[in-house]
Amino acid sequence: MPVELITHPLVQHKISILRDKNTGPKDFRDLVEEISTLMAYEATRNLPLEDTLIETPLGQCSSRIISGKKLGLVPILRAGLGMVNGILKLIPAAKVGHLGIYRDHHTLKPVEYYAKLPEDLQERHLFVLDPMLATAGSSTAAIDYIKKRGGKGITLICLIASQNGIDAVTKSHPDIPIFVGAIDKTLNQKGYIVPGLGDAGDRLFGTR
Ligand code: PRP
Ligand code: URA
Repeated sequence: MPVELITHPLVQHKISILRDKNTGPKDFRDLVEEISTLMAYEATRNLPLEDTLIETPLGQCSSRIISGKKLGLVPILRAGLGMVNGILKLIPAAKVGHLGIYRDHHTLKPVEYYAKLPEDLQERHLFVLDPMLATAGSSTAAIDYIKKRGGKGITLICLIASQNGIDAVTKSHPDIPIFVGAIDKTLNQKGYIVPGLGDAGDRLFGTR
């Protein structure tokens, strides 16, 4: 599956402000929401359409609506939460599942601590949301979890990814399309994306 870098000027401009260390939590939250809306617009570009008949005030017309699977959002807690409202603005009927996963600070391995997904997840196309794709441990664990429960149509949306992270997801889940707003080259020894934007959860919620 191709990895798609969203090069739209609005996405690129807003990611630059997001990266800035002087951007405070309020603006950071607003930007994550706005970028998520714009990226969801791109990530839903290939949803299948079907014909339907609509009665307008002046007559009948053949028109098109989204067909097939219903949609769902699965933010990875905490930072993925910041992306949900921006996408719900475009897809208000989507169900929202939650996966709580954090990285152990020493091993950088994902630790799962909460899961609540839509009961009919097998019938939905699920968008897994996480602003950061660093080692890919968290996103890979989330996709593993969904697939084990029968989820089939899955798309990953991340604002900033490392090349390592993209390579890791592509290797373990070659069927999953990945949409990213930026690809950074390196990770530091603590597993942070460099230059990245720092700790997304802490910047969203002002916890540091
Ligand atoms: C951050 C981020 C991702 C993860 C990415 O979460 O929001 O979920 O790290 O890193 P990875 O690709 O190496 O797994 P964190 O563990 O800081 O938890 P938080 O969102 O609760 O702060
Ligand atoms: N998690 C973050 O929040 N930022 C990074 O750079 C890597 C993981």
